[in-house]
Amino acid sequence: MNKKIKIFDTTLRDGEQTPGVNLNLKEKLIIAKKLEELGVDVIEAGFPMASEGDFNSVREIARKVKNSYVAALCRATKSDIDRAYEAVKDAAKPRLHIFIATSKIHMKYKLNMREEEVLKKAEEAVAYGKTFCEDIEFSAEDAYRSDKEFLVKVFERVIRAGATVINIPDTVGYALPNNYYDFIKYIVENTKGIENVDVSVHCHNDLGMAVANSLSGIMAGATQVECAINGLGERAGNAALEEIVMVIETRKKDLKMSTNIDTTKFTKISNLVSAITGVRVQPNKAIIGENAFSHESGIHQDGVLKEKSTYEIITPESVGKINNKNIVLGKHSGRHAFQSYLQGNGIDLSGDELDEAFKKFKRLTDMKKTITEKDIDAIVNDNISSVDEYYKLISYQVYSGNKMICTSTVEIKKGDEIIMESAVGEGSVASAFTAVERAIDKKINLKDYSIRSVTDGEDALGEVTVKIEEGNKIFTGSALSGDIMEASLNALIKAINKAKLN
Ligand code: KIV
Ligand code: ZN
Repeated sequence: MNKKIKIFDTTLRDGEQTPGVNLNLKEKLIIAKKLEELGVDVIEAGFPMASEGDFNSVREIARKVKNSYVAALCRATKSDIDRAYEAVKDAAKPRLHIFIATSKIHMKYKLNMREEEVLKKAEEAVAYGKTFCEDIEFSAEDAYRSDKEFLVKVFERVIRAGATVINIPDTVGYALPNNYYDFIKYIVENTKGIENVDVSVHCHNDLGMAVANSLSGIMAGATQVECAINGLGERAGNAALEEIVMVIETRKKDLKMSTNIDTTKFTKISNLVSAITGVRVQPNKAIIGENAFSHESGIHQDGVLKEKSTYEIITPESVGKINNKNIVLGKHSGRHAFQSYLQGNGIDLSGDELDEAFKKFKRLTDMKKTITEKDIDAIVNDNISSVDEYYKLISYQVYSGNKMICTSTVEIKKGDEIIMESAVGEGSVASAFTAVERAIDKKINLKDYSIRSVTDGEDALGEVTVKIEEGNKIFTGSALSGDIMEASLNALIKAINKAKLN
């Protein structure tokens, strides 16, 4: 009998702490629903005390998600716990996730507390949370750099106070897999009452070992893994959910473990998270990278053509790698056929969202000879990442050449008002962006601009990602089009709308 490993997804909390990632309510809700469909056991929806926006997102996710636990992060203080519970209380399965640091370095420099104080605070916080929430996860922040004996004391106290899960994070990604194994085993073997709770691991990727360390943790007795789609997270990120699950799936005979995850949804959810966050996946990334199933050398190609298992240990189908097959939709397809196609693929759009996606699809059929599944996916993801449109691009004109100063004119809608502005610049994008800056009458602090093709062929769709800075925060906008200037302007306007540069 395989041991069931619970998957705790933190894309919306630790993942949102990825530099430059800032998700709004609509985006978080869509990702949460997809995580639920993926089969994750726990969705960590956010840190309600951090901001009003975080609080609202956690509350809405808690109300919409039915099958997964919805966890809200909070520090070990009454005010944090109250706020977190208020956000998560309507969930079908609410969880409070209380944390306090336990390493000497954190206690001395960050908390300015002694061991006894931390012990007391941890115990009191869990006991307080337990008065209104049955499911309490307790995390000892920077656990791996903490004194083992002290950690055992903390865990025994919080288990007695009612914790149902104890989490042992490698917060700074410092562990080596064999040391982390020994560490988890020590805690599991020496903590009284631990057999009655779930033991969780949460590994950061600073030395590129988050997945290896998480695996060591579950081999040593942990029953829950905390991870994020595409390995998003603070600094170098968290363990990548798709990698850890595929290790368990591919090596299940040796590991004797399994999860509840539907791995065939990996490619779609990875693309969705990438489109919404603006954080691209490296091509050589395991499982969901563009090259994960490409065979370049002649010897490998020959081997795979003769027998796939020569060079493929997992199949592209098992992770939902989109077959770039043409689809039956085309120039003459109507709105209904388009909607039926989406529904058949598990995408439920209606009203304005469907209208907008259909408009994009129609434009695409004018530009592209063949429409593939990848094109439709890209359109749907582009639509999702659209934010409330305070500003909207109506039209633009660009005159450019290598021996002239480029000139752009943009027409932008703001409420009922249409604003038209022109500007010159060193290049077409620079002049168009300056024209937008004039139209909105605000300085735009452009931090990054990048472009890539998201589908295949000569008439591939291009995706532009723009990052701007406002009030010490980075806001990202991505947009898709067969026309690079249109994608550039829409990406910039999405970033401006997110930053609320009104
Ligand atoms: O990395 C960490 O220690 C965390 C905790 C809050 C669980 O993210
Ligand atoms: Zn973390």
